[in-house]
Amino acid sequence: MKRFDVYPLFEVEPVKGEGAYVIDRNGDRYMDFYGGHGVISIGHGHPHYIEMITRQLNELPFYSNSVINAPQDQLATRLGEVSGLNDYQLYLVNSGAEANEAALKIAAGTTGRRKIISLERGFHGRTALAVVATDNVNYYTKMNDLSIIERVPLNDIEAVKAVLDQDVAAVLVEGIQGIAGIYEADTSYLEQLSIITRDNGSLLILDEVQSGYGRSGKFFAHQYSSIQPDLICMAKGMGNGFPIGGVAVAPHIEPPNGLLGTTFGGNHIGCAAGIAVLDVIEKEGLVNNAAEMGLALKEELSKIEEIKEIRGKGLMIGIEFDFPVKDMRNQLLKEHKIFTGNAFQVNTLRLLPPLSIGQEEINYFINSLKSVLASKNEAVYIS
Ligand SMILES: Cc1ncc(COP(=O)(O)O)c(C=O)c1O
Repeated sequence: MKRFDVYPLFEVEPVKGEGAYVIDRNGDRYMDFYGGHGVISIGHGHPHYIEMITRQLNELPFYSNSVINAPQDQLATRLGEVSGLNDYQLYLVNSGAEANEAALKIAAGTTGRRKIISLERGFHGRTALAVVATDNVNYYTKMNDLSIIERVPLNDIEAVKAVLDQDVAAVLVEGIQGIAGIYEADTSYLEQLSIITRDNGSLLILDEVQSGYGRSGKFFAHQYSSIQPDLICMAKGMGNGFPIGGVAVAPHIEPPNGLLGTTFGGNHIGCAAGIAVLDVIEKEGLVNNAAEMGLALKEELSKIEEIKEIRGKGLMIGIEFDFPVKDMRNQLLKEHKIFTGNAFQVNTLRLLPPLSIGQEEINYFINSLKSVLASKNEAVYIS
């Protein structure tokens, strides 16, 4: 059997990770300003993370969700403490799409309604409901029921009001739109959304799969506002690479009978990974570090005149140029050994480095970016 080939690949094979770096098969070291697709929160190969997972592996790697599972309760308690959402309930799954899928099902199940309002350029995953909420025609098949979706532009509250009727189960928005190209929901917009969804009997779901777990400089990006969403979806940074996701469910929502369930969600090793991540985030002050390093990075970026716009918060940054960034990303990777991300907005470079980066990594990135831009300018001048 061979691999079912669905991804375009870079010609690099990382075999080891250390902090903000990965080392490839040839022994070359790469700086990871993409965080393995926004997943690496506490850094590659963190010793506490390895120790916790190894201990759990030696004790009990797995048992089913039909017995008492203390690591699940510990993870829920720790997440409440570190995120400040002490009174929420935690439903555990294995990925971001699955978290959104579960949240949408909770919304439909508790409201008895069928429609979702989601945002233009939003990304929520590729499973049946999540993909319908995602704004990309290339991801749909004939099995996806697009009649359940109303799509509205970001930060336009009147557009939401125009379609928010008694058939709407949920409004689903990203804390910060990631794959779109790093676009932020205004705090006043989120606050208005919270009020109008509550008044309409619909649920407000925050997809914090990419923007959560400290990446924005707050534990969840929506915490820059005063809202308390009904459902908050998380994954990526939650396990620092171990596949775990979750939905934080507001206290007023009761578990719907029979609608939810998963064999592997909340498994013992995933919970050990999740607890280790929270320990490190708290002990090393990584949420504050993301906020501070994000500001430092933006400050340096603001001095580069070729940059058209800098967007985002903390270590979730979009840098827009007036040309597509494909070649620039390749050059950063090949010549400077830096991983960066792309976006739906093709002129935007997307940065999602580990939350533990310091000034040294920022300096290296800025100098490398300047050097790539200088070589591009030179090429234009010569031609
Ligand atoms: C905001 C957001 N939601 C959902 C997903 C889907 O997560 P997963 O790939 O773990 O299913 C992603 C993945 O990039 C994402 O960025």
